[in-house]
Order: sequence, then C-alpha cells, then structure tokens
Amino acid sequence: MIEKIGLLEEQFHVELKCAKSSKDIEALRIRYLGRKGPIQDLMLHLKDLSADEKPLFGKKVNDLKEKIAYLIEEQTTHLLKLEQASRLEEEKIDIALPGECNFLGRKHIITQILDEVIDIFLGMGFTVQYGPDIDTDYYNFEGLNFPLDHPAREMQDTFYLTPQYLLRTHTSNTQLHVMEKYSPPIRIIIPGTSFRNETISARSHVLFHQIEGVYIDKNVTFADLFATINEFLAKLFKREVETRFRPSFFPFTEPSLEVDIRCTSCEGEGCRLCKYSGWLEITGAGMIHPQVLKNGNIDPEEYSGYAWGMGIERLALLRYGINDIRRFTENDMRFLEQFN
Ligand code: PHE
Repeated sequence: MIEKIGLLEEQFHVELKCAKSSKDIEALRIRYLGRKGPIQDLMLHLKDLSADEKPLFGKKVNDLKEKIAYLIEEQTTHLLKLEQASRLEEEKIDIALPGECNFLGRKHIITQILDEVIDIFLGMGFTVQYGPDIDTDYYNFEGLNFPLDHPAREMQDTFYLTPQYLLRTHTSNTQLHVMEKYSPPIRIIIPGTSFRNETISARSHVLFHQIEGVYIDKNVTFADLFATINEFLAKLFKREVETRFRPSFFPFTEPSLEVDIRCTSCEGEGCRLCKYSGWLEITGAGMIHPQVLKNGNIDPEEYSGYAWGMGIERLALLRYGINDIRRFTENDMRFLEQFN
C-alpha cells in the first residue's frame, strides 16, 4: 500500500511538468485533489489496514496531499504570472505609431448642389416645402390638367404602383398640396426626387432631382418670373448669365416656356455639350394655369402665379462638365471624392 503512495507522487510530478497553462493546472488539481481523485481513493483503503499500519499510512497520504496542494498552488502562481506578462506584451500599444486615418464622409454632389440652390432661393424670400414621392394620379396628373386620356401624359413615362398611386414624375405634384394648405401670398420651393420609367442612358435616368418653385400673389406677371430666374442664375453661376425664354407646352401652365442659358462650355460658339446650338436648357416654367389655381381653391380672378421645375442633375452636369448622368447613382468613390 505504501508503495502506491510513492507511485502516485511520481506520476503527479510527471503530469505537473506537462501542465503548461493555468487551465491545465486547474484540471490537474481537480483530478488529484477532487472527491473522486486518487488521494481520496487511498484514504478509502485506510479501513482495510491494521491498527498499526493506519497512523503511518494516514500520515503519508496526508503529507502527499499537502505537497500536491502546495506544488499546484506554486505552479499556478508561476503560470498566471507568465500568462499575464504575455498578454501585456500582446496588448502593448506603440503610442509613437501614426494614427489610423478615419474616412471623412461628405455630402453627395447632388445634395451639395441642392443645398446651394435652396440657399439662393431662401435668400430671395422663398421657403422650403416637401411633397410626397408616392402620390395619387390626381396630384401628379389630373389636378394639373392632364385628363386621363390626355396625350401629354405620354411626355412622362410613369411608374404606377396601383391604378391610383404612382411614383411622382415631377415635383409639380406638390403644387396642389401647397395650394390646399396655404393661401396666397405663396412663395415656396419644393426640392425632391422624381421618377420616370425611362431607359437609363447617359442623358436620362429613372431617378432624378428637381426643385419646383411656386409663387402666387396678386398681380404676379411674366416679368416676375423672368426676374426671379435671371437673378437665381446670376447667383448660381456668380456672374450675369445670358438667358433665352422659349415658348413650350405644359398642361398646368399657360403660357408655358423653357429657359435656356448661353452654353457654359463654349459661350455660344457651339460644342458637344449644347449640341452645337449654343444654348442649354435649364428649366421648364410658366404662369400657373387658371384651372390649376381653381383646383387649389385659389380664385384666378384675384390671384395669378408662376411656377418652374428645374432639374438638379442637369445643373451638376453643366457646372462640372460631367457627361453621363449615371455617374451620380453608381456610388463610385473615385467619382464622388472629387466633389468637396
Ligand atoms: N414639371 C415639369 C417637368 O418636370 C416642369 C415644370 C414645372 C414646368 C413647373 C412648368 C412649371 O418637366
């Protein structure tokens, strides 16, 4: 029996040497000193021994138990120290290293131009209103003098969600919302996204941005519209800009017109940007049709007004000489990062 104690001690020393981490040691402790461990086993044999043998055997087992406990404790402390040291080494921070550069976000170029345009109109006494991207046929078409079978609807290929609801094809959808909500004088701009079911190409997209203007008061005339557009363009391009007001057609304005500016690239000489015409179209506009004012509960005998709807992508194309409208929605950082 006594030899068993010696053998167990030898075996313990071998296993102690193999324990390389505080976890290994803890496992060893549980195995040797636990209730079902070999030390406890030896104790159970005590009752089979004679009265003479008992004290010596008991003492030896106890000594071994204490020795194992001591060695385990000692080795645990040692290993924990080593482990902590290596963890500190791993977590060491070199404060002399150059810092990591965080990517600095910026506004999308279209948002930048929208902000700038809004700012100019705010300075001219307009306030900002937002309208719904998803609207009824009435606000987008019918209330604006596009009856159901009117061919002018073909001018704008529409994404219908249901027969009644659609994605607005222009920010003009908000004209009647504004008239229903406020009474004149109304001096409002409506920035937003418009959607058209068109083939995506360098020149057209299914998604684009517009800024609508609505001005309604007593005695508003064409002259007010000219002055406003001219002043806006001068502020945007930071110089006098030569403009041309060309007759056009929109069902919700009468008369209707389109405003061109002298080509910003060739100054009128003729180039690819202006398709050799010397002029660039900037916005559709016109005097608000009396029927539209009536639909908005405004008496056309008492009030008159003008409206325009300007494409923001177009302004960006002109200002930066970009030749493809698809660039704006591709999310190519190499493109976007150029506009600070
Ligand atoms: N809604 C027209 C378009 O998208 C532009 C427009 C707005 C014309 C307001 C006249 C008045 O083409």
